[in-house]
Amino acid sequence: MSNQSNYLALNNLYKYFDKITAVNNISIDIEQGELISFIGPSGCGKTTLLRIIGGFHKQDEGTINLDGQQIDHLPPEERSTGMVFQNYALFPHMSVFKNVEYGLKVEKVKKEERNRRIKDALAQVQLEGYEDRKPSELSGGQQQRVAIARCLVLQPKVLLLDEPLSNLDANLRMIMREEIRRLKEELNLTIIFVTHDQEEALSISDRVIVLKDGKIQQLDRPDNVYNQPQNEFVANFVGHTNILEGQFEDHDNKTLFKTEHFSFEVQSKFSNSSKNGKAVVRPERISIMPNGDVEGKISKIVYNGSFTRYFVLISGEEIMVDDFNAHGLGHYKRNDPIKLAFPTDPHFINEN
Ligand SMILES: Nc1ncnc2c1ncn2[C@@H]1O[C@H](COP(=O)(O)OP(=O)(O)OP(=O)(O)O)[C@@H](O)[C@H]1O
Ligand SMILES: [Mg+2]
Repeated sequence: MSNQSNYLALNNLYKYFDKITAVNNISIDIEQGELISFIGPSGCGKTTLLRIIGGFHKQDEGTINLDGQQIDHLPPEERSTGMVFQNYALFPHMSVFKNVEYGLKVEKVKKEERNRRIKDALAQVQLEGYEDRKPSELSGGQQQRVAIARCLVLQPKVLLLDEPLSNLDANLRMIMREEIRRLKEELNLTIIFVTHDQEEALSISDRVIVLKDGKIQQLDRPDNVYNQPQNEFVANFVGHTNILEGQFEDHDNKTLFKTEHFSFEVQSKFSNSSKNGKAVVRPERISIMPNGDVEGKISKIVYNGSFTRYFVLISGEEIMVDDFNAHGLGHYKRNDPIKLAFPTDPHFINEN
């Protein structure tokens, strides 16, 4: 039964808190060995959904199946799910070894097997040699890995991680992302990863689920979520973007997309479906070029290291344009007149 597409199946889940519908008709089929992220703004239901899967909340409606078995009526310890909570709550007075051993003792696993499994779990998170340390004698990333080892040692079918990297600094976050991907590959582990960092979600996931008000806005591969957002909310939440409203106009052999303040050429196929459109144009897809069609003036410059973001005024409308600093500093100053080249194939949103 390996790698079936509905290894973990969430079916029409609902959770109500008083007047709030925290989880609103969520259905997802997750493949074995897949890493799925839940992203969305604070309060959108990420933790609630994760807790329902782990058995720490009871859903009001819907069912959950894991590896062919219905699990939604079972207590957490009988579900074969392992949850790492946001503040990963290690036992401060216990050594690393004892922290990892705890769950095995609860399960009454024999000493010999306990020792073998603890050794394996600590090796999986690359913490051999740290058995006798207390959590206070570890770095944030090391504590994080103990929390994960504590779950892995119980050999869960699904690992549930609630914002596991949010307390770590930027470099450590990058390293831990790689480690989580490595664990997933090595153990063919199914992982649900909650984050509100959209860049983290794009870089770590096989698929991303964007949530808003307890509802799925989009469920797709990271590149599709970024390049073909389903609606304006997704476009704005995942990355930064210009959203341009306008009309298609056919002139001679060209199709122009005309906003209130300017127009640019797009592929003719876009005008076939409708007269009006909403274009999602990412800042890095617009180029500052001497032969660009659209004239503007730089109103603000934000230096970001690898790229510079220019805010460009085009007869009253402000557009974001990103320029990679491949040759060092950007070349433009505030108030410089410039010309912009827009992509002919922006993504058009179909919202009703
Ligand atoms: N135990 C509870 N009782 C009442 N309301 C709750 C409870 N837990 C969560 N909520 C509400 O349900 C909604 C979803 O909360 P949840 O914790 O799942 O959000 P989240 O997406 O994890 O947010 P964050 O990014 O801030 O962690 C929120 O409106 C929250 O106030
Ligand atoms: Mg949360």
